[in-house]
Amino acid sequence: MSPPQPAPSDWRGWFDAWESHMSALMPGRDMVLGLLSNLLARTLGATPLIVELGSGTGGLAHRIARSRHDATVLALDLDPLLPAIGRRVLGDEQGRVVRGSVDLRSADWWADLPCPVDAVVTVATLHVLGDRGTDRVLRDLAGVLRTGGLLLDLDWAVPEVRDPVLGTALNVLSHERIASVGPSAFSTHRSALRSDPQLAELEQRRRKRLGPPPAVEPPYLDAAGHQRALREAGFADVVELWRHLDLALFAAVR
Ligand SMILES: C[S@@+](CC[C@H](N)C(=O)[O-])C[C@H]1O[C@@H](n2cnc3c(N)ncnc32)[C@H](O)[C@@H]1O
Repeated sequence: MSPPQPAPSDWRGWFDAWESHMSALMPGRDMVLGLLSNLLARTLGATPLIVELGSGTGGLAHRIARSRHDATVLALDLDPLLPAIGRRVLGDEQGRVVRGSVDLRSADWWADLPCPVDAVVTVATLHVLGDRGTDRVLRDLAGVLRTGGLLLDLDWAVPEVRDPVLGTALNVLSHERIASVGPSAFSTHRSALRSDPQLAELEQRRRKRLGPPPAVEPPYLDAAGHQRALREAGFADVVELWRHLDLALFAAVR
C-alpha cells in the first residue's frame, strides 16, 4: 500500500514526508544529527558562521541554530523546492538561518561565501558528486574553512574490509536495508507536487536545475579513500566518529 499523500499546499505534510523519507534511508538519523549539532555547539567559538552544503529543507540548519543562539547558518542547496518547504514550515530563526543557492558541480561554487567560515556540515550530499567531484569540493573546503575549522560529513561510505566473505555480507546487508525501505510519500507522490498550484513552479525549477534523476544511483564513497582525500586536501586531522553499515560520520579539522 502506498503511503498517504500530503494534501495540496500542505507544506507541513511535504516537510514531514521528506523527513520520514530521509529517516527511513538513514538509520539513527535523528541521533546522529543531534550528535553533530552538539559537537558544533561545544567546539565552536563565539558567533560562529556555519555552512551547510546540500541542506534540503534546512531541518539540520535550524537544529544547529537553536543549539547555538549566537550562530549563523548558511544553508546552501541547488534545489529551490526543499528549501522553500523548509522556510515555510521553520521560518529563519530571526535571520540566523540564511538559505542560498549553490551548484556544487561548478568549479567556483564557493566564490560568494564570506570566507573563512568556522564549520561546514553536509549530510547525504557529497556522494552525489562522484569521487572526483567530492575530492574537488573537499579541496575547496580546505580554503573555505579557517585554520582549526571543523567539517562534519555524514554520508554513505563503504568501510575497508579485507576479508571477502565479511565484505560481501556487509554489502548485501547494506543494500537489503535500503531496498527494504520501499516507496516513501515524498517519492511516490512527487507527481502530485506538479498539480499543486504553489509547489508546481518550484518543482519545475527543481527539475531544470538538477536535471533528470541518474539512471543508476551514484556509488557510495569509499571510506578509506575519503579520509585520504581529506588529508590530501589539507585537513590536519580526520576521524570516523560514527558508523552503521555503509553510513558514516566523518569529522575533519582544517
Ligand atoms: C539526499 S538529499 C539530502 C538533503 C539534506 N541534507 C537532508 O539530509 O535532508 C541531497 C541534497 O543535495 C542537493 N544537491 C544535489 N546536487 C547538488 C548540487 N550539485 N549542488 C548543491 N546541492 C545539490 C539536493 O538538492 C538535496 O537537497
